[in-house]
Amino acid sequence: MKKILVINGPNINLTGIREPDVYGSRPYDSLVGFIHDKAASMGLEVCVYQSNHEGCIIDRIQQALTESDAIIINPAAYTHTSIAILDALKAVGLPTVEVHLSDISQREEFRRFSYVSLYAEKTISGHGFDGYAMAMEYLAEKY
Ligand code: DQA
Repeated sequence: MKKILVINGPNINLTGIREPDVYGSRPYDSLVGFIHDKAASMGLEVCVYQSNHEGCIIDRIQQALTESDAIIINPAAYTHTSIAILDALKAVGLPTVEVHLSDISQREEFRRFSYVSLYAEKTISGHGFDGYAMAMEYLAEKY
């Protein structure tokens, strides 16, 4: 395991601004910095990508086929709606961990179902920024 692609979906770029009681008050830039620092300490190469657009996320997943060894994805609201993102992950076939800042099992009913969970080998939910570190640790240990 060397190269990990981290994908963050819609509105994750507003972390720190949007609903701080749910997603915390640290800005998105500090999440990106946190991920890079953790990756460096584990000897991993990481690329962090964020998009508000479903098709762009799918393009980036497809690109991972030749560029990455594993994917960590927080699909945000697309978690609960996107068969297309699920299909892209299945098509590419890389080890995938799903991360959510908040605990989606303890929120509204519509957040309880995740299409991405049908493919992801692990889901980490409700640990804030640490969830991304936990995902990297899991992948580094297993692969
Ligand atoms: C989220 C949870 C989703 O339900 C929500 O739509 C998000 C963020 C999380 O990180 O907790 O945008 O993926």
